[in-house]
Amino acid sequence: MSTAKKEYKRVTVKSLIEMKQQGEKISMLTAYDYSMAKIVDSAGVDVILVGDSASNVMAGHETTLPITLDQMIYHATSVIRAVKRALVVVDIPFGSYQSDPKEALRSAIRIMKESGAHAVKLEGGIEIKESVKRILNAGIPVMGHLGLTPQAIYKFGTYAVRAKEKDEAEKLIEDAKLLERLGCFSIVLEKIPANLTKKVSESISIPTIGIGGGKHADGQVLVIHDLLGMTHEFNPRFLRRYMNLYEDMGNAIAQYVGDVKSKNFPNDEEQY
Ligand code: KIV
Repeated sequence: MSTAKKEYKRVTVKSLIEMKQQGEKISMLTAYDYSMAKIVDSAGVDVILVGDSASNVMAGHETTLPITLDQMIYHATSVIRAVKRALVVVDIPFGSYQSDPKEALRSAIRIMKESGAHAVKLEGGIEIKESVKRILNAGIPVMGHLGLTPQAIYKFGTYAVRAKEKDEAEKLIEDAKLLERLGCFSIVLEKIPANLTKKVSESISIPTIGIGGGKHADGQVLVIHDLLGMTHEFNPRFLRRYMNLYEDMGNAIAQYVGDVKSKNFPNDEEQY
């Protein structure tokens, strides 16, 4: 019997469920623009999330709340132009789905129609049941998001680990089962204890994607700016930095400034 990993020319929601069944971990990263998405996709990432973390890392806001639906569609459209293989999931931003299920469906349709994205992501469990149902009924794949849900940061009051207490952990498991029953294809689990991630991942057949959820999730997601070390002030325990671009880019730019000032750039070969 062959143990070779199946090659996916195009990752679909079905591929992700298959990966879970085969015990293959799923890689997911954020991207918000064409150039970055091209690199992320070419490097073989399975899922690209156009996250509302764009509000933080692209626009400089303190929270994800201010980003608008139009701005998310702009980011998603740029990403879609670059992607050949990955599944592209787009966050429905705060204020575009919480008031009623019809509004949620309208927002999801705008994202799919105007950007060409492949799926949407919403934060919450039972509270957004009707919205998830309505979006799924329209044929739009939905990824859930439980645990630390940044759009509710003012309710939590802190970015600390969620669901450490029994009641919240039990509700999270119930919410995950509900999202699976409704037809979601995957669930992000953010900043929860590793043993809870294990329980959730074992109790549902759709893949869980962790961020600060430990090694038992069926996949992992990070914000690309954090992985590359562009956001040097953000140091949570779960973050593994693969580069220190804040320093490297700063040094390169300082060198350029020095070369311009010293008339070293451009030289004779760098002109017409
Ligand atoms: O917006 C985002 O980047 C996210 C990830 C942290 C999962 O939702």
